[in-house]
Amino acid sequence: MRATKILTAEHDIILQVLASLDRAREKMEQGLRPSPDFLAKSVTFAQNFADRFHHFKEEYLMFGLLAEKKGGLLDLHMGVLRYGHELCRGYIREISQVLDAYAEKDEMAAITVLSSIAAYTAVLRHHIHTEDRLFFPMVEKTLSDDEKEMLMAQFHKESATKDAATFRLYQDMSHEIASLLETGG
Ligand SMILES: [Fe+2]
Ligand SMILES: [Fe+2]
Repeated sequence: MRATKILTAEHDIILQVLASLDRAREKMEQGLRPSPDFLAKSVTFAQNFADRFHHFKEEYLMFGLLAEKKGGLLDLHMGVLRYGHELCRGYIREISQVLDAYAEKDEMAAITVLSSIAAYTAVLRHHIHTEDRLFFPMVEKTLSDDEKEMLMAQFHKESATKDAATFRLYQDMSHEIASLLETGG
């Protein structure tokens, strides 16, 4: 499997959670409140899977290799994508910081959650679109076959033993998040 294919498959799981967060935002716009459990699980997913597991592979392995092999060729694109990761980390941090107050029905916390969810889903969906449609195809064209193999080897070295299990774990978590929203649990 190609490295970009792995990243795109991970995007599909992230997009499932973004769909749940979209529905949560719509409910909040109507004055409803998704449960604190739904929010807490979404934050865990965003921090552990989207950020630590997925963005780590992009930033430290893929961008690292591109910077080393291709000089400044893709620096601007990588800078924009890195900025997207940073913004997303910030939105999730904002939600996590007000979770306790949200559970206590604090109105300001609810507004913070609403605005952070809206920004997170918009920025991350745009980011994933850019990677899948523009950046990854450009990476495929730019890297030689040997370099692609090197990247794949780095992906394996980093996470081969935990990849399949982690993938399944977070796929299950994305379903759990969707049902927590529907059941209000
Ligand atoms: Fe990314
Ligand atoms: Fe990505």
